[in-house]
Amino acid sequence: MALTDQEKEQIKAMIDRGEKLPARYKSLLFADAPEVELVWQGKTSEVTSVVLPFQSIEQIDEPRQETGKPVDHLFAADRRGRQSGGWTNKLIWGDNKLVLSSLKNGPLRQEIEAAGGLKLIYIDPPFDVGADFSVNLEVGDGEILTKEPSVIEELAYRDTWGRGTDSYLSMMYERLKLMHGLLTEDGSIYVHCDWRVNSAVRLAMDEIFRPENFLNEVVWCYKERERTLDFYNPKHDAIYFYAKNRAARGRPFNWSSAASEYSIVTRGKFKFDDDDGKGPYQIRGRNLQGSPIRAADGLSRTDEAKYPGLTYRDYLAQREGVAPRDWWEISIINKASEERLYYPTQKPQQLVERILAVSSNEGDLVADFFCGSGTTLAVAEKLGRKWIGCDLGRFAIHTTRKRLIGVQRELKAAGKPYRSFEILNLGKYERQYFVGIDPTLPEAQRRVQALQREEHYLTLILTAYQAERLFQMPPFHGKKGAALVVVGPVDAPVTQSQVRELVEECRRKKIAKVDVLGFEFEMGLVPVAQDEARGKGISLSLKYIPKDVFDRRAVERGQVKFYDVAYVELKPAVEKLKAQVRLTDFGVFYRQDDLDSLGETLKPGGGKVTVANGQVVKMIKDKQGVVTREVLTKKWTDWIDYWAVDFHFGSRPEVMRVRSQDGGETEMPTGNFIFENEWQSFRTRKDRKLELASGWHEYDKPGRYKIAVKVIDIFGNDTTKVVEVKV
Ligand SMILES: C[S@@+](CC[C@H](N)C(=O)[O-])C[C@H]1O[C@@H](n2cnc3c(N)ncnc32)[C@H](O)[C@@H]1O
Repeated sequence: MALTDQEKEQIKAMIDRGEKLPARYKSLLFADAPEVELVWQGKTSEVTSVVLPFQSIEQIDEPRQETGKPVDHLFAADRRGRQSGGWTNKLIWGDNKLVLSSLKNGPLRQEIEAAGGLKLIYIDPPFDVGADFSVNLEVGDGEILTKEPSVIEELAYRDTWGRGTDSYLSMMYERLKLMHGLLTEDGSIYVHCDWRVNSAVRLAMDEIFRPENFLNEVVWCYKERERTLDFYNPKHDAIYFYAKNRAARGRPFNWSSAASEYSIVTRGKFKFDDDDGKGPYQIRGRNLQGSPIRAADGLSRTDEAKYPGLTYRDYLAQREGVAPRDWWEISIINKASEERLYYPTQKPQQLVERILAVSSNEGDLVADFFCGSGTTLAVAEKLGRKWIGCDLGRFAIHTTRKRLIGVQRELKAAGKPYRSFEILNLGKYERQYFVGIDPTLPEAQRRVQALQREEHYLTLILTAYQAERLFQMPPFHGKKGAALVVVGPVDAPVTQSQVRELVEECRRKKIAKVDVLGFEFEMGLVPVAQDEARGKGISLSLKYIPKDVFDRRAVERGQVKFYDVAYVELKPAVEKLKAQVRLTDFGVFYRQDDLDSLGETLKPGGGKVTVANGQVVKMIKDKQGVVTREVLTKKWTDWIDYWAVDFHFGSRPEVMRVRSQDGGETEMPTGNFIFENEWQSFRTRKDRKLELASGWHEYDKPGRYKIAVKVIDIFGNDTTKVVEVKV
């Protein structure tokens, strides 16, 4: 269709005035504009290509019985029964946009390709406004607390939903493009949606994957109690199934693993059984030309005797079942479900099992970049697939960690193989990137950039902390009320010696109160540093800088919360070559709601569990309006959800792989060590007990060893401490 003269004039005038042209002109002005296209405010085809190095922070592997030999041809087990070599599964904590871009364009891509490439993606992105980030936590022996989303989670939520469907589509479009780029030619993707977003997501998928690669809209039907009598009850989700390239050879579609049973009527036809272990069968005619019985079914034994060469026995057990349809009836996870975790959007394993079994083969690499409670990863592990999972939420990562340890234990008990997994993040590189330092530059250039950006960084953190900037009093950077404030580096932990020097400086300058803010703190600093400072008359407070400081809107609104660094106390025990550790204390100082204002807002007869002044508190308002409080965290152990021990801490230096100047790649030590999870105890929904003493670990030879203990509290925050033992 050509432009009319009037339209041409209108377009020229609008360009002269510097105005944007209406979207309807797109197909008239551009040669390759698609005939049908989904357009939304802010749509752009630009996709980030940033590459940040991944930091491996934790390695988790349940020791195997096999030591020093191959495990089911997958990899070798070392002397301690741990996986050595082969693919290690990856649980990545971070925004999937940066994660996907770094996987697609960075050095990990080679590892993915060496593992056969990414064959299958299942994603279940947020589609229920508001439901994704609040989670229920259990305190101690079972009281439920609803954890409010952190600002960084709210930020993702706002970026997703801030302008409604527009921003949702912008978020999904870029990520789907990155996923498309990561999949192998014979790979496929399943995108889970419900009625709120399915129409838009389908069109976006058509644009990215092309309509010819659309395979199915799978309808997942379920029953749940909720009902409406205004319109038909929505009791299904849509799952869009696309091939990367439908014509590519080798795309798995193992339909028989999703085949359903025959109907009662069909099964009724298999009416003979000779009790010979082969099961029921029916007698059918061979479809031979000229045969009097051709392809008939339902023949009798008399027919069989009469036409021996023209009939055959059709055994039910040899049939593969009914080829799967595109609608599946699978129950949702309800309160009584065995597999239920405290994750509101958790999907049933049976649903994901079907997807993985049909669209991937054993040993294939599968991924879920919105992994939530880790359903896809748990299923992948059980089905012998390799996996990558990613989530933005700290609590999602923690829930998944516990779940996957459970799966490793389950497989071990059943004598089946399993792989080790590592937890990665973009840690300090992500922070450097946010501050404007390119983390992939050589050290010297990064230092120059860091210096240039220092003032910007300090102002950002101090504004978020609501402190004022001080220029004349180094090493102090700011002032908040009566306390002076020091901001730790963006890419390194605050060390014990830095804190000691600061305390000395405070003593010399007669400063009574100092707050030290850091993204990371050297282990074991708390509470020793505070006790030492107190001895010198100085009140020292160490606080974590949350990632939320990089959200300008959160900073402007004063929403960023700085939490005190927690502490853990341990007692090691040694017997000849064996060692054990015992937890003896743990302390946190969290604040979530202000109790008094909460008391006022509670309705008579209402109640809420909240956090205040470092305790989890249950507030109840009776019918007369009298408010009572009950502290639920009665014991220090009530705060702990999980703890793990590394008996050889320091033996595995962390390295990051970065692109070298010549375009190849090189390994760089980061100065940190990977925490190897050798023993752990944690609470599950079914078992709320927590052991306070670790198992005994036997060393190969006498010597000094570092034992690290990582404690994860009920909010998913972790604290690590190292002790040295001599065996
Ligand atoms: C619907 S839930 C997934 C539930 C999951 N299928 C299960 O069975 O537990 C969506 C998840 O996406 C995560 N998420 C949302 N935006 C994200 C982002 N930009 N990057 C990574 N994860 C994100 C949320 O934290 C949430 O856990």
